[in-house]
Amino acid sequence: MTAKIIDGKAIAADLRGKVADAVHRLSRDRGITPGLAVVLVGNNLASESYVASKMKMIAGSGMRSFDHRLPKETSEAELLALIGRLNADPTVHGILVQLPLPAQINPHKIIAAVDSAKDVDGFSPVNAGRLAAGLPALAPCTPVGCILLAKTVQPSLMGLETVVIGRSNIVGKPLAQLLLAENATVTVAHSKTRELPAVCRRADVLFAAVGRPEMVRRDWVKPGATVIDIGVNRVMADGRSRIVGDVAFAEVAKIAGAITPVPGGVGPMTIACLLVNTVRAACALAGVREPAFGQRPIDDRE
Ligand code: GUN
Repeated sequence: MTAKIIDGKAIAADLRGKVADAVHRLSRDRGITPGLAVVLVGNNLASESYVASKMKMIAGSGMRSFDHRLPKETSEAELLALIGRLNADPTVHGILVQLPLPAQINPHKIIAAVDSAKDVDGFSPVNAGRLAAGLPALAPCTPVGCILLAKTVQPSLMGLETVVIGRSNIVGKPLAQLLLAENATVTVAHSKTRELPAVCRRADVLFAAVGRPEMVRRDWVKPGATVIDIGVNRVMADGRSRIVGDVAFAEVAKIAGAITPVPGGVGPMTIACLLVNTVRAACALAGVREPAFGQRPIDDRE
């Protein structure tokens, strides 16, 4: 068997097209141009590359971008002061503080300081709580992107066995909440899980977010399962650096029903979902009904 390759690049490009249309209409009909502020502290190479991609896509969608680069010695108080200014700025609808932050800054304090209405990362305690409670929320971009990719193969996740490897606040935990909202059966596995390969083999849809290169092997995957690889790991091979996921792609593709490649899978969807969240935040702040983008907001009144 050879898995269908889920083309995250193409699916993300399609979603970005919908975002660009929505931005155009908001601007033309309501005089609102969504604006996203991206804050990068220090010069972590991976973060610089992510931020460069994000800025490019923001500009390409017709939104306004505000680029804030701060030196690695920036104090927590200085960063909090910047966030205070961005919270108060009516032209800024979304605020993203790229993680990780330098050691002198407590990320929890920073995340909590971002106005939850502008928290397009969906990391704030308010949005995390709303997501967990099944209330409308700005949900984290990577997990939302993962669900959208999985649904291109399995349009309904209802009742399916899903396994998430990883329990981070950025991916694993919010992904589990989103899967519950989709009526999936959810197992969250992590570094202390016993018999991890056997747990993973139960999955109709397997999500790997561990940060270990090619950890998920062929015998961890049920034949025909959908595999969503969230890992981004830089490895050296034949004297050259390349990016691999958390899944041993070549061997797992022989047994899975569908699989996302790395790169070109979840990564582009994360950015497209960031743009969606920025439009949603701009609409909510302006009191305008938000465009659907083919997504269903989580709402427990349904
Ligand atoms: N670092 C790694 N992933 C992310 C993300 O989705 N958002 C932010 N702000 N930082 C990150």
